[in-house]
Amino acid sequence: MSPIRIFLTLASIIITFAVLIHIMTNAFVTTSSDPTVSAFDLSRPRSPSDARAIKNPIPRSGDAISNGKALYEGKGNCFVCHGMGGHGDGEAGVMLSPPPRNFTDIQFQRLRTDGELFWTIKYGIPDTAMFAFIPRHLTEEEAWMIIHYIRTLGQETP
Ligand code: HEC
Repeated sequence: MSPIRIFLTLASIIITFAVLIHIMTNAFVTTSSDPTVSAFDLSRPRSPSDARAIKNPIPRSGDAISNGKALYEGKGNCFVCHGMGGHGDGEAGVMLSPPPRNFTDIQFQRLRTDGELFWTIKYGIPDTAMFAFIPRHLTEEEAWMIIHYIRTLGQETP
């Protein structure tokens, strides 16, 4: 074999490997659940699938909504991150990654059931600033009233 032939053979082997490695790493990136991508993705549920079916035991009423509002803006301190209007722009929320949920987002309101909201208020969302509020900061009943209030925030167009 001439030196040129040896060189060309080696070069083609190296190029083939480089292409293969490139394809494989790309495949890994797109198929894995990369947390920096999915953290912001609203379509990724923040609670286990059985949370969807949990029903709000408190009937929707003017009283439940106004109690929920008072808790959101008071004892529960939700406004600190989620903002007074629920836009996710509270004073402590603007620097967070992922950012606090924008409750006026119609997509969010459509995607999530009351049970899912309840689950996240009760247990928090791992690896985010959304911590568990029950039983330390709120009772279950209080959380359900806050959920009635959060539902009113999605009725305006964002
Ligand atoms: C310290 C900041 C902080 C406070 C206080 C806070 N949250 Fe959150 N909350 C977050 C962040 C950040 C997210 C978004 C996490 C994510 O994208 O997964 C979030 C997400 C949520 C969600 C969306 C869950 C979903 O399924 O998408 C709900 C509902 C929620 N919070 C309710 C509340 C309620 C109710 C209170 C008050 C009792 C509250 N939060 C207080 C930071 C906070």
